[in-house]
Amino acid sequence: MKSDSKKTEIKTTNQKQTKIEPEDKEYAECVILRPVGYPFEFNLMDEHIEITNKELFEEYAREQWLGLVVRENSHLFDQKIIPDYGFEVIKAKPDNSIISEKTKIKIITDELTTKNDNKKFKSNIRLSDIIGQNNAKNKVKVITKYLENPEKFGPWAPKNILFYGLPGTGKTMLVKALASELEVPLYLIKATSLIGDHVGDGASKIQDLFKKASENSPSIIFIDEIDAIALHRSFQSLRGDVSEIVNSLLTEMDGIIENDSVITIGATNNPNSLDYAVRSRFEEEIEFKLPDDEERLAILESNLKTMPLDYDIDLEKVVKITKGLSGRDLKEKILKTSLHNAIANDCEIITMENIDYAIKNSKIKNTDVKGMFE
Ligand SMILES: Nc1ncnc2c1ncn2[C@@H]1O[C@H](COP(=O)(O)OP(=O)(O)OP(=O)(O)O)[C@@H](O)[C@H]1O
Ligand SMILES: [Mg+2]
Repeated sequence: MKSDSKKTEIKTTNQKQTKIEPEDKEYAECVILRPVGYPFEFNLMDEHIEITNKELFEEYAREQWLGLVVRENSHLFDQKIIPDYGFEVIKAKPDNSIISEKTKIKIITDELTTKNDNKKFKSNIRLSDIIGQNNAKNKVKVITKYLENPEKFGPWAPKNILFYGLPGTGKTMLVKALASELEVPLYLIKATSLIGDHVGDGASKIQDLFKKASENSPSIIFIDEIDAIALHRSFQSLRGDVSEIVNSLLTEMDGIIENDSVITIGATNNPNSLDYAVRSRFEEEIEFKLPDDEERLAILESNLKTMPLDYDIDLEKVVKITKGLSGRDLKEKILKTSLHNAIANDCEIITMENIDYAIKNSKIKNTDVKGMFE
């Protein structure tokens, strides 16, 4: 039997959308169903939903939102199980596109990447904003390729990667850029937030984190300042529950489920302070280096573009006298201080005088930062 071409109206709370069914579509002659339960559960008390069956949810979601336009930061509303329950569109590729039968629909239900976090991490930082750090950028390229086509990598998938290097060299910035360019859930956490008030909290927080990442895989876990939880054994006696946390991390990093595509990236200023067993789980350690002359010039130039005042400075000289400073130092200690100094003195433009003031006032001496990893 052929269906007539017909229009079906779907009403949502704040929009009226029209689905158009293709002409000449065959009606199914027979459908066999098996009850499998709800694709998600809802707890009225905390407005929290739990996806109990990801595949089923995807089908359910696709079916009810088929033909709808998705815009980032807008909402889709459930029509069936919990009418008007809203889902924020965190990412749509491309933005402002229509849900089709082929659209992949993923859901993030993790408090670690809740609305606020996503807003925070939905930064405008792009990979191209990071100057230098080519080894790290190449690794990010591999991760992106892997996430596009995990099967191709078989047992050779990237799994655990350590970013290390001096403060302010772009470790966190790179992961934020990765988050804004990738389509997979990214669990960005500070290691210190995994340490709970009670003994045992840390271990169970780590288990929860990896469990959620695995349920939403492929996904990335970024543990910033990982040395805070994976302390070298010689420091572990300082905190009673640290070895429990370290053991939990070890188990999770080994990956309980083969082939589940969860990539862990850890970042630290000091890899030598890491627990040896944790450190050995990282297949690659990527150093973030201080910017060289050319890179410092590029960092200065890109930040100067956003200055609220004009400037008349000898950039080559600034490059020379800032040898040994990180990207963060250049931005915060040199440029920001110069700008504030110019504003405080009612100057219309930033001059070398302001830069000299910033250099003198910055507590960093080139010698402080040399040789930390030598
Ligand atoms: N390679 C770089 N390219 C461009 N900007 C940089 C770079 N490195 C650092 N910056 C600037 O410094 C800021 C701080 O960098 P970021 O927070 O990524 O450092 P980090 O390596 O994570 O430091 P920490 O070890 O202290 O956490 C960035 O937001 C950016 O403005
Ligand atoms: Mg950082």
